Amino acid sequence: MTKLGIIGAMDVEVRTLKEKMENPVISRKAGMEFCEGILEGTPAVVVQCGVGKVNAAMCVQILCDCFGVTALVNTGIAGSLCAELDIGDLVVSRDAMYHDFDVSAFGRPVGQVPGMDVVAFPADETLMAYAYAAAESVNPGHTKTGRVASGDQFVCRQDQKDHIITVTGALCTEMEGTAIAHAAYRNGVPFVILRAISDKADNSADMDYPTFEAIAADRCARVTMAMAKRVREA
Ligand code: ADE
Repeated sequence: MTKLGIIGAMDVEVRTLKEKMENPVISRKAGMEFCEGILEGTPAVVVQCGVGKVNAAMCVQILCDCFGVTALVNTGIAGSLCAELDIGDLVVSRDAMYHDFDVSAFGRPVGQVPGMDVVAFPADETLMAYAYAAAESVNPGHTKTGRVASGDQFVCRQDQKDHIITVTGALCTEMEGTAIAHAAYRNGVPFVILRAISDKADNSADMDYPTFEAIAADRCARVTMAMAKRVREA
């Protein structure tokens, strides 16, 4: 049976999920609170990992080693890199790539981590299908599947945004997804990233983000719940 590890960076991204967890058991490691129980009939561990790549990767390792999760879902918000993705719209990852990992001085493509045989980490197709169906059930006609770009930067300048689009071709940008994908890949655990758009990752981002953070995060949590239900029914 699938056991989901569900990761959000911020409280607003996991709060609803924790509230909906049945028979929750709370434990702490590395300053993170792991909430284990049953979500929509599926065994799950929900955790707030904190912002950024290191927190995200540490969290995956704990979920794999200490909780034995068999699939990973990253839920949260993101800045849009695509004119057709508006605030509140949803992105399901096809793959995930760093925009701030650069060893191009040694002839590697930007994004590729030495020792890894891929530039972008591929998401699991079955989890993608569940995530897409769940997203469509919550917000029909507003979901795209594609690349997610991650880095340790809140993107809020047009030149920064343009650079990330050029380097990655991603649909959206955030700060944890690729680290989760990377750690999942190294552990042989399937993953998917599910993100709701909170801002346009440009000069309007610092205005839009505070306004739409909670709405977008909650929408994404609801999609994650719908996804957990589909996993149970599979
Ligand atoms: N998460 C939500 N919006 C973001 C942005 N503009 N940059 C990085 N992470 C984000």
